[in-house]
Amino acid sequence: MKVTKAEIVISAVSREQYPEDLLPEIVLLGRSNVGKSSFINTLIHRKNLARTSSQPGKTQTMNFYQINDVFRFVDMPGYGYAKVSKKEREKWGAMIETYLLHRHNLSTIFLLVDSRHIPTEDDQLMYQWLVYYGLNPFVVLTKNDKLSKIRKKKAFDNVAKTLGITDKTRIIPFSAVERTGVETSWMIIEKYLESEPFGIKNED
Ligand code: GTP
Ligand code: MG
Repeated sequence: MKVTKAEIVISAVSREQYPEDLLPEIVLLGRSNVGKSSFINTLIHRKNLARTSSQPGKTQTMNFYQINDVFRFVDMPGYGYAKVSKKEREKWGAMIETYLLHRHNLSTIFLLVDSRHIPTEDDQLMYQWLVYYGLNPFVVLTKNDKLSKIRKKKAFDNVAKTLGITDKTRIIPFSAVERTGVETSWMIIEKYLESEPFGIKNED
């Protein structure tokens, strides 16, 4: 998709603030600092539409970015950042859960994990939670440029094994620096945009 228009629609903290139309939404989930905002910027060729930072915990709201008035990316607050208070973490958890379980616009999910490490306990819990609710995500291995060729292969295998993913097409090595995985991610997005949003079954 050639991106001709990209704008933030809202930084939401509650359900009432979600956009009211029926545009499909592609969700980015993952630990703080894993590269969610960079993923969006890389795909749409903008340096800083989604705010990025070397400081973890930057994205504290659900940010809705509208692309070509055709779909939206939803950049979620990152989980697993120790310096955020327990109360704050619970608030974010509830915010993310409410969205994932009730948002009928939800089209598909990219769960981002850092390719330099084995998925953390938080990553594993998030993945299992999604699968349990029938929200099987694509897993994006971020910062792949930081690994040697051999370690890239190891990282791929480790993630598949740790999360129990047998369908390897659901794992996407990605680099915001080398633009690895950009084309694959767009192919997935375009395929999902053609089908019914799958969150609809959870609508209440
Ligand atoms: P929060 O908003 O805190 O949850 O973080 P985030 O997941 O949005 O991460 P963000 O995109 O802000 O990236 C965090 C840091 O990692 C930034 O310094 C990015 O430049 C860097 N980064 C992200 N993706 C890549 C990548 O593919 N390669 C390299 N080398 N650095 C990356
Ligand atoms: Mg961010």
